[in-house]
Amino acid sequence: NVKCPNVVNPKMSPNIVIGNPDELAKKKAAIRAAGMSSLQVIADFDMTLTKYMVEGRRGQSTHALLSQGSSDYDRKRQELFDFYYPMEISPLIPVEEKTKLMETWWGKSHALLVEGGLNIENIRKSVHKGTVGFREGITDFFEILDGENVPLLIFSAGLADIIEEILRQKLHRAFPNIRVVSNRMNFDTDGNLIGFVGKTIHVLNKNEHALEMAAPLHDEEGHAVASNGNGASFVKGKKNVLLLGDHLGDLGMSDGVVYDNRISVGFLNENVENWLDTYRKAFDIVILNDGPLDYVVELIHELR
Ligand code: C5P
Ligand code: MG
Repeated sequence: NVKCPNVVNPKMSPNIVIGNPDELAKKKAAIRAAGMSSLQVIADFDMTLTKYMVEGRRGQSTHALLSQGSSDYDRKRQELFDFYYPMEISPLIPVEEKTKLMETWWGKSHALLVEGGLNIENIRKSVHKGTVGFREGITDFFEILDGENVPLLIFSAGLADIIEEILRQKLHRAFPNIRVVSNRMNFDTDGNLIGFVGKTIHVLNKNEHALEMAAPLHDEEGHAVASNGNGASFVKGKKNVLLLGDHLGDLGMSDGVVYDNRISVGFLNENVENWLDTYRKAFDIVILNDGPLDYVVELIHELR
């Protein structure tokens, strides 16, 4: 565990780092004055809403947990992960160069999923078996947002279909206030993957993706919806943003929004010594050591 160098409030968890407490207090006051009806939440999925470590093992991303039913193709995608992931988290590669590398990685892994074959049934089984767990406090987080009618947009460079399956399998109820913007699969009538919908979202181009890609998770009768819908109307008029991410690129998730105030929360899960200074400057709040969502839930309480 890394000891936090600037604990502002001694009662506060040592896993919380706030670079500029005055600035944060101002933003909180402005959002509180505008009211909860002005708020929208935009959250990354992998390693933000989910845990970095799950029962002592490294948590899997939506891409990583997917077994496509061919060990050959699973191995090929794992080899890509082993090659590109260290580059994703490296502080030494300039952002333009890294963007190209990430485009190549996503392009290759999506192509392998189509080429090697994937059926909807593989998704259900993979999620069931995968090493994936929500961050502690997720139920309180989803419930307070739902109770206050605050829309939550999950904006992920992972796979929409897997995220939605994880939500279905791991939560005890459906949340009508949640939409998912992510790479969405296209299946034929037999449930076989034939391609992806729209432009690829990777960790560094979230800023280029507009909200209209957001799809409702369930229709009025509670059935899962697999097509893309209109997300822009979903967050219309919501002028304040609470943003949650684990990657610097996640800060671009709110680029499509014209907002008055934004509070950003960054989960710094690894390479902490190298990244802390950058994260402290980039995010209003940094949560270390795979910490729970309690602080975020508390923050939402304070905004009411
Ligand atoms: O939800 P989020 O935007 O965090 O999802 C992206 C994550 O998925 C990346 O941090 C990356 O490490 C992971 N990934 C992966 N395999 C791929 C592509 C991305 O594990 N082929
Ligand atoms: Mg992430």
